[in-house]
Amino acid sequence: MTKAVVLAERPVGMPKQSDFAVIETDLADPADGEIQVKNVCMSVDPYMRGRMVDRKSYVPPFQIGEVLTGGSIGQVTASNHAGFAVGDYVSSHYGWREAYTAPVEGIEKLGDIVAPPSAYLGAIGMPGMTAYVGLLEVGALKQGETVFVSGAAGAVGSIVGQIAKLKGCRVLGSAGSADKVEWLQDELGFDYAFNYKAGDLLSHLREGAPDGLDVYFDNVGGDHLQAAIMHMRPFGRIPLCGAISMYNDVEPPPGPNNLAMAIGLGLTLRGFIVSHFNHLSVQFRKDMEGWVTSGQIKYQETVYEGIDGAADAFIGLFTGANTGKMIVNF
Ligand SMILES: NC(=O)c1ccc[n+]([C@@H]2O[C@H](COP(=O)([O-])OP(=O)(O)OC[C@H]3O[C@@H](n4cnc5c(N)ncnc54)[C@H](OP(=O)(O)O)[C@@H]3O)[C@@H](O)[C@H]2O)c1
Repeated sequence: MTKAVVLAERPVGMPKQSDFAVIETDLADPADGEIQVKNVCMSVDPYMRGRMVDRKSYVPPFQIGEVLTGGSIGQVTASNHAGFAVGDYVSSHYGWREAYTAPVEGIEKLGDIVAPPSAYLGAIGMPGMTAYVGLLEVGALKQGETVFVSGAAGAVGSIVGQIAKLKGCRVLGSAGSADKVEWLQDELGFDYAFNYKAGDLLSHLREGAPDGLDVYFDNVGGDHLQAAIMHMRPFGRIPLCGAISMYNDVEPPPGPNNLAMAIGLGLTLRGFIVSHFNHLSVQFRKDMEGWVTSGQIKYQETVYEGIDGAADAFIGLFTGANTGKMIVNF
């Protein structure tokens, strides 16, 4: 037997503990072409909130009673496939469970790793890749530009800011506490970080970037997007990565009321999903492993212990409980 987390209720507004339940399930021996894996850590991601709503999206909604899925890193404990040996580290979407038996399709062997396995859920994993493609491909960042990233102390945002610094840019970031602001400025080298809960967003942007913004990497949406549009330079780019300020809204939120400014300024606002850029994953891993091992990119994790901590970890994404990547360890 092994434990897993199911969706017990569809959250309304802020998710709560009773929306989730931990169940026990059988753990089968691997059939032909299958492997059995013990997860060592799993990822907890904001996008999963959208899948808890019963509506059409780029990924189908979770069903009530269904074991949740999400990124995980595990170690093979039994193998019935020639390509996988006991002890191999694998990355899969079979998170939210302690262990699983499954066909190998969609399960990736990590091969030689240069950092602890959990880094492959964060800086060297999907969030790091999101930062990399969002900034360099969608944002078309150029040397010396001025960049603002919201959600800056999170898994994606903290990497966005550091890549931009590596590219010789001036970097601004917003986060929800004084401790996070201190980390961004003192540890990660942001030029100007601010607590978005204190003071007016536009005043902060004017202070941190008197000449305006070339790129705004949007993780938050809502008032952050509105303020950034007000402060963009001509032909600026806005990669629309996420809108976490709206994920728990019960009614559709009002959009930015200044979108018409994009016309005169020639702005590009472009949404993207990291998987649109899967063709860059080899290049990303090579670059990011290099930056992490050389210390040019730093990362932090907030870790909850055990499957019973998974719901709290998820809820914590919406209260700002994490600095860097939110992880559950097994
Ligand atoms: N497009 C893609 O392919 C893709 C891939 C991955 C992630 N994303 C998106 O990227 C964003 C960041 O994801 P992540 O995994 O790196 O999460 P994260 O930033 O590590 O964690 C979420 C953070 O969001 C902040 N937050 C929560 N509610 C907020 C609100 N109402 N207003 C402002 N900030 C709020 C909190 O930090 P504070 O303390 O600073 O409030 C929290 O720590 C999310 O919008 C996510 O959906 C998109």
